[in-house]
Amino acid sequence: MAASCTTCCASSPHNPTLTEPCRIPDALIDALRKARHVCVLTGAGISAESGVPTFRDAQTGLWEQYNPQDLATPEAFLRDPELIWRWYRWRRDLVAAVEPNAGHVALARLATLVPRMTLITQNVDGLHQRAGSRDVIEFHGNIFTNRCFVENCIVDCDTSAKVPSCPHCGGHVRPGVVWFGESIPSQALNDSFAAAADCDVFLSIGTSSQVFPAANLAEIARDASAVVVEVNPEPTDLAASIHFAIQARAGAVLPELVDSLAE
Ligand code: OAD
Repeated sequence: MAASCTTCCASSPHNPTLTEPCRIPDALIDALRKARHVCVLTGAGISAESGVPTFRDAQTGLWEQYNPQDLATPEAFLRDPELIWRWYRWRRDLVAAVEPNAGHVALARLATLVPRMTLITQNVDGLHQRAGSRDVIEFHGNIFTNRCFVENCIVDCDTSAKVPSCPHCGGHVRPGVVWFGESIPSQALNDSFAAAADCDVFLSIGTSSQVFPAANLAEIARDASAVVVEVNPEPTDLAASIHFAIQARAGAVLPELVDSLAE
């Protein structure tokens, strides 16, 4: 179903993707102009150009170097809370030291150009908000929030401690992210599924589409007849069954897409 660009890219039924640099297809701009509701799902790839490592990219991805079962599960935290806290503090410091990139900024601008936009991110880095996006649905939580491991409430605590203690119950404090084996916060889940089912255009940006239930969202949108678009330098399994697979970096293609829409 994916479209090929006839102006600047090799057009072949066996490689139905648009490669960088690429003019944004008129049909995509047309769909965005007509859209009543645009739903966007982002993953680690959108923050890659800010210098935040992705999870599954060969060589540079975090899960290429570390085992997620050792660092991103409640069992791992119970085994060695200090190790997990240290790892997340390293990631938090890394994210705090970088800036949103042109892809984040373009999505904040896109929200001003369409009647309604829902921005869902799997990222925990807060870079969309720092780029000016509002009401971002944080599907996997936020690395700058802290939760009591025992009571699960959000707590304010001294994060420089080895493993902070909950000011209410004295239990260990953990980062406010969703770990493997844990449920997505119910409001984020419900709002995201509703937005995917309701939108006219769905953009899947910088995600490998391997982690569920986030990966269900594009399928829900596609089944509800939305125009589905992927932006990813490495096409995922989703690419073959959607309308546009743009094989490019988010920071290169999104500003171009938003400029074309604004013309
Ligand atoms: P992945 O690391 O699985 O995928 C990142 C995707 O971004 C890959 O498909 C890359 O090809 C693509 N990419 C790299 N650079 C890009 C760029 N400049 N522009 C656009 N795309 C680019 O990350 P996610 O799909 O986000 O969960 O991973 C999903 C979840 O798995 C994460 O939220 C995290 C992880 O375990 C939790 O921590 C619960």
